[in-house]
Amino acid sequence: MKLGVLVSGRGTNLRNLVDRDFEVVAVATNRGGCPAAGFARERGLPLGVFSQKAYASAAERDAAMAGWLREAGVELVVAAGWDRVLSDGFVAAFPDRVVNIHPSLLPAFAGGMDAVEQALGQGVKITGCTVHLVTSAVDAGPILVQAAVPVLDGDTPESLHERIRHEEHRILPEAIHLIERRVEAGAALR
Ligand code: GRF
Repeated sequence: MKLGVLVSGRGTNLRNLVDRDFEVVAVATNRGGCPAAGFARERGLPLGVFSQKAYASAAERDAAMAGWLREAGVELVVAAGWDRVLSDGFVAAFPDRVVNIHPSLLPAFAGGMDAVEQALGQGVKITGCTVHLVTSAVDAGPILVQAAVPVLDGDTPESLHERIRHEEHRILPEAIHLIERRVEAGAALR
């Protein structure tokens, strides 16, 4: 499937997909200076920069981004470290074809950008990551794949997040393969 990957940060999930030979036909970012965008440039991947400053609203930015992804022939949108809520219009433009990766075992620690800090703050012994379909309800769409990750004594947000990322790099490809199989079989994704 032709993937469009949405990024705002480090881009380790993007790099992992590219390294595993997924067909990434477009990378969109709201932060042209982030490391993920730098990686896209380095690899010559088509990069669209959709800075919020250039648009009157998030809905307008997302509409422009959806149009650009469509033009690029994107069949599945992968939010891999995208740090904004996608507007309803964007989700509607790709019905059941937008997935997100979130660094917790949803529905725990949904919403917000600090799921890893929240897990540490709550003292949970196990957290993890989730790939889910994006719907208009934030972090609440149907779950596709999850992985558990132990919280260890002395963990910092950084050390725990690294352990979670390690599992993300396994389950995001797994979720995409799952979607490809279901789409191929003409089955619903939920
Ligand atoms: C991941 O932990 C993902 O779950 C969250 O943002 C982080 C992105 O990491 N949504 P990276 O930019 O792919 O390294």
